Amino acid sequence: MADTDGLLDARDFGTSAGPAASGFHVKGAHGQDWGLRNRLSRIFRPDTGRTVMLAFDHGYFVGPMAGLERLDTRIAPLVPDADAIMMTRGALRTSIPATAGAGIVLRASGGPSILRELSDEHIALDMEDALRLNAAAVAIQVFVGGEHESRSVANLAALVDAGQRHGVAVLGVTAVGKDMVRDARYFRLATRISAEMGAHIVKTYYVDEGFETVTASCPVPIIVAGGKKLPEIDALTMAYRSIQEGAAGVDMGRNIFQSDSPAGMLAAVRAVVHDGLKPEEAYEIYKEKAGGSAA
Ligand code: 5RP
Repeated sequence: MADTDGLLDARDFGTSAGPAASGFHVKGAHGQDWGLRNRLSRIFRPDTGRTVMLAFDHGYFVGPMAGLERLDTRIAPLVPDADAIMMTRGALRTSIPATAGAGIVLRASGGPSILRELSDEHIALDMEDALRLNAAAVAIQVFVGGEHESRSVANLAALVDAGQRHGVAVLGVTAVGKDMVRDARYFRLATRISAEMGAHIVKTYYVDEGFETVTASCPVPIIVAGGKKLPEIDALTMAYRSIQEGAAGVDMGRNIFQSDSPAGMLAAVRAVVHDGLKPEEAYEIYKEKAGGSAA
């Protein structure tokens, strides 16, 4: 057994330095093959190095939640304004036009529903089908500290092997159990494990204290999940702080599709992520698009 006694707490994150220049706009990917870098460029805009990923994969374990009752009428119209979209292959094939230009990020894990122990996931997508669907990346939940931690990490590693074989990126999604502490220390652990296991992108949650240490100590881009629906100004503030503190974008779902103006919110988030607008400035964009419906 590895000797874990006397491990020193990490403390020198060099957060003021930013990642070392590599000549490629996606952190940690300069050594990858052409195809994988090309696919990453369909997710992260080469001019900003950032992404606005619209997540609507939630149905794979919760079914038709609020805002996702109809993927064809409510979500498909938003797709042209997202850099990348994250969903299941079922959602993509049935409800999203094949003319979509966004980078395709396919949910590749599944198994339990919200009625069961969520960490009991398996790989639920073959890389061959991901290629058939022109996926830029596949996404898998990683349950560090969860009941099925080892299996989920092994699933991630297996997917990375398949991804490296075919030049498809892998997004490791940090899954936080109900009883886990959502702090920078936990997210440093979970995100770094995903990156060390070979994930090319890691999704995690924003934390008010020490988020810059999470992004600094993860050698691949961090994108931030929106989480539960917040007032629009708060979600924009979270996106702004995430970017300021080193995230390479957002992978946002409920805070867009549960907004009273999903298109307005998507435009506002884009302005924060790509144009560096302050939350209050971006909120004006949301309000304008929302017309009379926004507060
Ligand atoms: C679900 C996911 C979601 O895609 C992710 O949580 C982003 O959505 P939201 O912004 O609604 O949290 O990975 O497992």
